[in-house]
Amino acid sequence: MLIKKPQDIPSSEITEQVIYLERRKFMTSSIGLTAAATLLSPQTSVAGYGGKTLKFTKDKIFDRKEELTSFDKISNYNNYYEFGTDKYSPAKNAQALTTDPWSIQIDGEVEKPGTLHLEDILKQNPLEERIYRLRCVERWSMVIPWVGFPLANLIKQAKPTSKAKYVQFETLERPSEMSGQKRNVLPWPYIEGLRMDEAMNPLTLIAVGLYGEVLPKQNGAPLRLVVPWKYGFKSIKSIVKITFTEKEPVSSWTKVAPNEYGFYSNVNPDVEHPRWSQRKERRIGDFLKRKTLSFNGYAEQVASLYTGMDLKKHF
Ligand code: MTE
Repeated sequence: MLIKKPQDIPSSEITEQVIYLERRKFMTSSIGLTAAATLLSPQTSVAGYGGKTLKFTKDKIFDRKEELTSFDKISNYNNYYEFGTDKYSPAKNAQALTTDPWSIQIDGEVEKPGTLHLEDILKQNPLEERIYRLRCVERWSMVIPWVGFPLANLIKQAKPTSKAKYVQFETLERPSEMSGQKRNVLPWPYIEGLRMDEAMNPLTLIAVGLYGEVLPKQNGAPLRLVVPWKYGFKSIKSIVKITFTEKEPVSSWTKVAPNEYGFYSNVNPDVEHPRWSQRKERRIGDFLKRKTLSFNGYAEQVASLYTGMDLKKHF
């Protein structure tokens, strides 16, 4: 495995990968969702973070019926242009990133702007596990057991003003450690944005871990966004700034190719990317392709956010 755990965490505090995988296998087995839910009492797991302990609940049911993509695949096939444009470089190059200490600046239309330190964020926001599908715009997908907390919690703590209509996110810009930023493949820093109601939706997660472990650096450590009903590029990694705005943010990808990457970027098999169809996807590890689902399968939870909107126009 590529990720080394910090030396100073006793192994008793770390969820064993093997035990974890066994537990997962049990939970995703054919006994069915209801039976699994009955058998699973709320429980807490721990993993290390920078010499400190993370606790998270595992009692919520999110897509447990789908087979998980392996930890190895999730952490060795990445899109993280700050560490190279191919899928395999981030696993190697991202290890140069210093993720501790880490803080996030909160600014714009909020009553409580300021700097939040990661330790304080973790103290104030209880963590839980969420198994989500991630559908990349490039037509591959994975099923990932994230550990994190709803972005809505952080937003409520910042107390947005009535002028705050959107939330803009910014990734760290540190070319000395992020080798990919020495090339102008994207306008740096990487920027993404959500409409306020999308950001407040209970599905929208700030992830700090996956597979019961601290987030690997190539997956966006120490904290990243996960918006499961949108194409993967909306799920911005290694966030250092959150700005509340009146105007719709312009993302890095929209700046580069506005006809290919719209603001909403909801997973939509009916809207083609200008260079390819989005009807099908390949689950990493599978041979055959499968149909792409509207809103990546989360239509029931989020379709109402877009009632009355022409989703071909607002792609
Ligand atoms: N965030 C930053 N800062 N830089 C990136 O290049 N790539 C995006 C997104 N977040 C990217 C990013 C894309 S295109 C995808 S598909 C997902 O991260 C991939 O996340 P994963 O590597 O954890 O699977």
